[in-house]
Amino acid sequence: MPQAGKDSMNIRVVLGDIAGQPADAAVINLFEGVTQPGGATGAVDHALGGAITQVIATGEAKGKKGEITLLHTFGKTTPARVVIAGLGKQSDFTYDSTRVLMAEVLRFLRARGAKRVSTIVHGAGIGGLDVTRCAQAIAEGALLGAYRFVRHKSKSDNNSDVEELLIVERDAARLPALEQGVRTGLLLAESANLARDLVNEPANIMTPTKLAESARRVAAECKLEITVLERPQLEDLKMGGILGVAKGSAQPPTFTILIYKGDPQHPKRILGLVGKGISFDSGGISLKPASGMARQKSDMAGAAAVLCATRAIALLKPHINVTALLPSAENMPSATAQKPGDVLTIFGGKTVEVDNTDAEGRLLLADAISYGKSTRGLSLIVDVATLTGAMTSFFGDVCAGIFGTDKQFLDRIVQAGEAAGEKFWPLPLFEEYRELNNSDVADLKNSAGSCGAVTAAWFLAEFAQGVPWAHLDIAGVRFVDRQRGYIVKGATGIPTRSLVHLALSLADDWSRQG
Ligand code: BES
Ligand code: ZN
Ligand code: ZN
Repeated sequence: MPQAGKDSMNIRVVLGDIAGQPADAAVINLFEGVTQPGGATGAVDHALGGAITQVIATGEAKGKKGEITLLHTFGKTTPARVVIAGLGKQSDFTYDSTRVLMAEVLRFLRARGAKRVSTIVHGAGIGGLDVTRCAQAIAEGALLGAYRFVRHKSKSDNNSDVEELLIVERDAARLPALEQGVRTGLLLAESANLARDLVNEPANIMTPTKLAESARRVAAECKLEITVLERPQLEDLKMGGILGVAKGSAQPPTFTILIYKGDPQHPKRILGLVGKGISFDSGGISLKPASGMARQKSDMAGAAAVLCATRAIALLKPHINVTALLPSAENMPSATAQKPGDVLTIFGGKTVEVDNTDAEGRLLLADAISYGKSTRGLSLIVDVATLTGAMTSFFGDVCAGIFGTDKQFLDRIVQAGEAAGEKFWPLPLFEEYRELNNSDVADLKNSAGSCGAVTAAWFLAEFAQGVPWAHLDIAGVRFVDRQRGYIVKGATGIPTRSLVHLALSLADDWSRQG
């Protein structure tokens, strides 16, 4: 069973001089265009008798973004190797550049057998960035970039992990801020990596029951209240959406509810996070084509992100109430499966014609959103779902679509994404799209046949009425085939970290309002 923190890299902040700090390799940096390095890079240059100035002069190190220059120091510094990481143009440098840099440098050094790596705080010198956020970005980039999913490989063909990362700082006054940043970064990255584990896990292991079990572990670890609704309770509550999807599967559905009470003085202010938890989406009777179907093990990426964000929130303890809802089922074809044309009654009474059994996510999300609103008193809702293939064709693996009814809330989520280095692009819910979900036999149908991502969002909007609501369609970004900085192949864990930033930003605002 995946567990956050296990085998995780040890990250420490230490006071001192990077040239004198024991490590297998020390990471310093260089902005593009700098010919005479100052700060920690300058100090190392001095210790090396001007070797860095020399590689700059010969043009070997230009400070370009992504550039890695390795120097062997032959006893002139305590670390036997020094890596000069190119930072690119100073004006373009951001916290996300630090995440990318740390990911790339750590993989570079891992491939060369380094076990203990030291680094300076990139960006906090002439870059002028905030020290806490720099340390946070270092921790995030290192942990996210070093992530590998190897638990089903009996023999490792990989280099072993970097075990320790030392963040070396010369100014004692900065240590508390750095330590705070490392702590936050660790929590965020470990939580995103746990989400990656859950999503990478194959569907024969990560069933709805296993997902609920993972949530139980998280709840025990972080002291969250937890309820797992099983089939009999879902029947009592008349959650026709979840039950309808689960009908074709031998795996029973689960609906997990986690509660974090960070603001008991305002029990009615609750941020609701809802995640689609389809443990495998075969399409059901409206069966998907064979090619690419294996990827549908990742159809619970929304639930994984919501669960793991709730973990990080519970450990960071912001002043806010958060309720996480994880409706989960397996979508399979069988003699007991629901059929196109079936009519379901969603929690609360709205009826839905199942036009296409592959449009299953919105069915279980409808139950969860209605229930969250009426029974759990959510005052703001974000749902996260691998909802439509349309996202993949439009945005690829680069950004997720965001829909919603409250402009301010959407802006806040987009900003939370920016803080995390995760991209969300707003898409419209024009009224003209709404009637495409009209059914001849029920209140709504689950497949409009056109404008896939928008009509899916409209379907959810029908159930979120009355509460500010946003929907993230992460179908394109949940899983990637290429490595990009701290995004490695496989499950991305998106938008775990953004959801945490969202909760922190709301907590800040709500506390100020009193
Ligand atoms: N889980 C899929 C969406 C998906 C597709 C995620 C590809 C990741 C990659 C979802 O349940 C689905 O099948 N959506 C259909 C809806 C359609 C039948 C109305 C789609 O988008 O094609
Ligand atoms: Zn589907
Ligand atoms: Zn699906």
